[in-house]
Amino acid sequence: MLARFTTQGHTEVRALNGLTVNIPARQFVAVMGASGSGKSTLLYIVAGLARPSSGEIQLFDQAIHTMSDDQLTQLRRTRIGLIFQSFNLLPTLSALENVALPLLINGARLSAARAKAKTLLALVGLSDRLAHRPDELSGGQQQRVAIARALINEAPLLLADEPTGNLDSHTGEEILQLLHALVADQQRTIVMVTHDLRAAGYADQVIELKDGQVVTG
Ligand SMILES: Nc1ncnc2c1ncn2[C@@H]1O[C@H](COP(=O)(O)OP(=O)(O)OP(=O)(O)O)[C@@H](O)[C@H]1O
Ligand SMILES: [Mg+2]
Repeated sequence: MLARFTTQGHTEVRALNGLTVNIPARQFVAVMGASGSGKSTLLYIVAGLARPSSGEIQLFDQAIHTMSDDQLTQLRRTRIGLIFQSFNLLPTLSALENVALPLLINGARLSAARAKAKTLLALVGLSDRLAHRPDELSGGQQQRVAIARALINEAPLLLADEPTGNLDSHTGEEILQLLHALVADQQRTIVMVTHDLRAAGYADQVIELKDGQVVTG
């Protein structure tokens, strides 16, 4: 995979350089490396949110580099759950509504979506916070809501960009434990970009990037 960005001044930035990563199903993979090493770029390309300037990307045995934007959107809605450093919850919606939303967008009935959102909020330990809005929740609780939202479409692949980056160390550790448990109990695959050194202790595999390449070691 090669991802290059041409910036306005015609300077070419090579973000990922002939990178090959193999992500087995039902693994918790941590992607680590210095700032600017290409971690987010890798995640966004796998999510179909960024396109590489050249190279091939296979995901779920499909060539995603040839897909149209509509096909990529469909793939993301059904097979990928995204978790961000800044949670990205909708501020006017309750925890329950935030979690139910992706299912409603995919055409589910309101009652079914609410029931499933409730089950997932229980799974992440927030049964007593269903009606709270994001600004009424702690950072760790907001990230739990975001994780429940990422789970609701039964996506086999969860992609997380620095999910503990905005959390204190104790709360960050709880989130790492929760993600680890999801792989074991829910048969999900997680690719998590992180600067958190404790992540290595929870991950099955650590991919270290340097200058857009995997450090082998
Ligand atoms: N849209 C873009 N246009 C030009 N260059 C870009 C673009 N996006 C990323 N880059 C460059 O690609 C390289 C990798 O960036 P990336 O955001 O993937 O790093 P990162 O490992 O996630 O860093 P951090 O830990 O700081 O988040 C950097 O040199 C960055 O400047
Ligand atoms: Mg980044």
